[in-house]
Amino acid sequence: MLKHEDNETLVRVGPGTPMGTYFRRFWIPALLPSELPAPDCDPVKVRLLGEDLVAFQDSNGRIGVLHERCPHRRASLFYGRNEDCGLRCVYHGWKFDVDGNCVDQPTEPPGSTFKDKVKQVAYAAREWGGFIWVYMGEAAHMPELPELEWATLPPSHRWQAKWTYAANYAAGLEGELDSAHTGFLHDTKTPATDMAAAMAEATTYWAGDKAPALTVESTDYGFYYGSRRRYADDKFYWRVTQWLLPFFAIIPMPKWPISCRAYVPIDDETTMVFNTTFNADGPLTKEDLLPLEAGIGPAPELIPGTFQPKLNASNHYGLDREVQRTKSFTGIYGINNQDRAVVESMGPICDRWNEHLGTSDIAVIAMRKRMLEEARALQRGEAPKAAADASLYRVRPLDIIAPIPDLKTLVSLHQARMQAAKRAA
Ligand code: FES
Ligand SMILES: [Fe+2]
Repeated sequence: MLKHEDNETLVRVGPGTPMGTYFRRFWIPALLPSELPAPDCDPVKVRLLGEDLVAFQDSNGRIGVLHERCPHRRASLFYGRNEDCGLRCVYHGWKFDVDGNCVDQPTEPPGSTFKDKVKQVAYAAREWGGFIWVYMGEAAHMPELPELEWATLPPSHRWQAKWTYAANYAAGLEGELDSAHTGFLHDTKTPATDMAAAMAEATTYWAGDKAPALTVESTDYGFYYGSRRRYADDKFYWRVTQWLLPFFAIIPMPKWPISCRAYVPIDDETTMVFNTTFNADGPLTKEDLLPLEAGIGPAPELIPGTFQPKLNASNHYGLDREVQRTKSFTGIYGINNQDRAVVESMGPICDRWNEHLGTSDIAVIAMRKRMLEEARALQRGEAPKAAADASLYRVRPLDIIAPIPDLKTLVSLHQARMQAAKRAA
């Protein structure tokens, strides 16, 4: 369980909150490049950390991310005209460039300098690793973009998607740090041919031992945790998951491709998940892509034209009780739909003070504790170490059958395998 006040600190991400201030020290995935496909394209609404924003690509190809409401009389700039290197409000024609400067104010008399006194809030934006990232903190603290392995691979080696999660970011992230659920929630008799090879192999291991032993090891970037399952011949099946501050998890699989997900807070009660499924050794194959596009793997099928999953609480995630009786533990199709069903069922902000946590929850407990420590340290003036060193993010998870019983020894033996190469993007 978590005390009510600690839960509040963990989940509130708006401006001025301890956790919101912490998140604003990191670059945040915000959009797919396809949402801003060309200079002077349609502006799009983005909500991040409880702030309503509008993003656009100007005539020179620069990306602007502005507060949505016009500083004149607060109309939405989403309705604005994206033209001649700026976004022009349609109410009275004031115009703003990507840096938030007011560059035209046609309702003021010629020669007026009033426009020089008006500035719209504007955030830095960069395209990196197949996403558009936004930095919402003070310019003086802007870090480098994190050197996550997938961000430095050619586009052919990765498959990316984003979708909404009707829950606070921490609840989604907790699902990634909870190896014990895989043997239940994702237990299925789905023929292996329907799934990515890595996923099909993994599900048989998950089911082999339903009570994995968990160990967490803290690092400067967050932590890694190992789940150890019994396996034949005095061997163990180890899954070592990487958690990278503030919201990334890289999930181990027996073979490529693997997935990294970022749980980006839209606000306190909703999250945008940014998924990258990748193979560092080569391009994704047709076989890799089929289950990804069919919604069986890490990403759900979406309602066309939106980032909303088709299967959601309004249709009970497609729950089929007959399938639940005969074919899968849940009766819900696809790993992602299964995950969202249980996580969203906890409510938009989980009442963690009513939980009863067991030994299988130690990575979840460690994540909450670390997030609270990080946010409180920043309140005391201690800058986040993870934001200061982009190279910390060059790590991989590990999925291995080995006779080693303890995590530290296992990781020291396989250090080279858990380190990603330095590559220029
Ligand atoms: S409200 Fe935007 S120009 Fe007046
Ligand atoms: Fe899951």
